[in-house]
Amino acid sequence: MAIQKHISLVLQLVIVALVFNRANGSSLKLGFYQNTCPGAEAIVMKTTANYIYQSPSLAASLLRLHFHDCFVRGCDGSVLLNSTTSNQAEKDAPPNLSLKGFEVIDAAKAAVEATCPRVVSCADILALVARDAIHLINGPFWPVPLGRRDGRVSIALESRSLPSPFANITTLKANFASKGLNVKDLVVLSGAHTVGVSHCSTIATRLYNFTGQGDTDPSLDPKYVPLLKSICLPNDKNTTLAMDPGSSQSFDEDYYKVVLKKRGLFQSDAALLNDKLASLYVKLYSQSHGYKFFKDFQDSMVKMGKIGVLTGKAGEIRRSCSLVN
Ligand code: HEM
Ligand SMILES: *[C@@H]1O[C@H](CO)[C@@H](O)[C@H](O)[C@H]1NC(C)=O
Ligand SMILES: *[C@@H]1O[C@H](CO)[C@@H](O)[C@H](O)[C@H]1NC(C)=O
Ligand SMILES: *[C@@H]1O[C@H](CO)[C@@H](O)[C@H](O)[C@H]1NC(C)=O
Ligand SMILES: *[C@@H]1O[C@H](CO)[C@@H](O)[C@H](O)[C@H]1NC(C)=O
Ligand SMILES: *[C@@H]1O[C@H](CO)[C@@H](O)[C@H](O)[C@H]1NC(C)=O
Repeated sequence: MAIQKHISLVLQLVIVALVFNRANGSSLKLGFYQNTCPGAEAIVMKTTANYIYQSPSLAASLLRLHFHDCFVRGCDGSVLLNSTTSNQAEKDAPPNLSLKGFEVIDAAKAAVEATCPRVVSCADILALVARDAIHLINGPFWPVPLGRRDGRVSIALESRSLPSPFANITTLKANFASKGLNVKDLVVLSGAHTVGVSHCSTIATRLYNFTGQGDTDPSLDPKYVPLLKSICLPNDKNTTLAMDPGSSQSFDEDYYKVVLKKRGLFQSDAALLNDKLASLYVKLYSQSHGYKFFKDFQDSMVKMGKIGVLTGKAGEIRRSCSLVN
């Protein structure tokens, strides 16, 4: 009975998502550059591979960069723009803390420009690089419909529309819903935290001063706290720690096991247990041996990659990803 209800709710969400997708990003196409720049996807892949073989940890950074692009003004490459004398760009907003991998995008763009100047957008290159990077560390592979155009605006203050690591489940759901993403997308995309690191500064309050009384967040496994404190001393802002310790460079379902053990690093990870449907997904993915997680992650990445895209004659194709033309 409960399962049937759950399934019908999931079906409803899927239908809502399909309808939403159609109005949003439906003009992106697989193989968009087939005639105008047939080598583009292979060039991007090759450039990405060169970087990832040298430095596999970049894969996580590149995935996060794509996410930050899409959640602020849509997937329009706005996260790649530099600040100017008169404008502070997204890159320089507080949540950028540790955004990395810009050099990979610049290198891929330069390689593509050398073959077909002014044809392939930076927003598309970022979407492709993120996909290729994750696949190169044996993560899932998802189709990337193309044809995004680059925006001309990047505003630091708008980075507020990114979800906060301190957010509760209500706020997270509302934030994702405002991007056309449902609870399932929230849970499955949070699974990106199976790779990569966080800075100690992000969890300092949780460890040392949760309610302002020098206390620790009770939703964190008390047996895990001493280890976290030994890595993150009070006021240490620099040290990084793995979000999925032990397999932080392997894309797997372990993140969900970590969350179930109350060892997710952020309040936003822990919050996934505070909603009936979300926690069902956490359990489902934790037990799926990767298969279900990979499949659903692929679908949600395609959806995320369509948020607020510019297509047709909107925007521009930048010459350099960090500057408007
Ligand atoms: C659900 C809301 C989310 C919140 C609140 C959140 C927050 C964060 C924070 C605070 C960090 C660590 C930053 C630092 O201290 O260096 C981080 C890292 C990361 N996030 Fe998220 N994130 C969310 C969703 C996502 C999504 C949807 C993706 C991608 C699909 C993603 C991918 C990543 C990756 C890969 C890293 C590691 C980056 C690296 O190692 O360089 N996150 N996230
Ligand atoms: C954008 O900023 C980065 C970092 O400050 C810098 O290395 C890069 O040269 C800038 N890009 C351009 C085109 O000026
Ligand atoms: C992030 O923003 C800070 C200012 O808040 C800036 O000093 C730093 O250079 C930015 N980092 C990147 C990678 O752009
Ligand atoms: C969730 O966070 C929001 C914003 O901080 C707050 O207004 C709301 O009361 C919180 N909800 C719950 C159930 O704690
Ligand atoms: C803990 O939080 C309280 C209230 O915000 C603040 O007054 C106090 O200075 C904080 N303590 C530390 C050690 O940061
Ligand atoms: C933290 O990083 C800053 C800038 O990278 C550096 O100047 C400082 O020495 C570092 N602090 C510690 C404790 O490692």
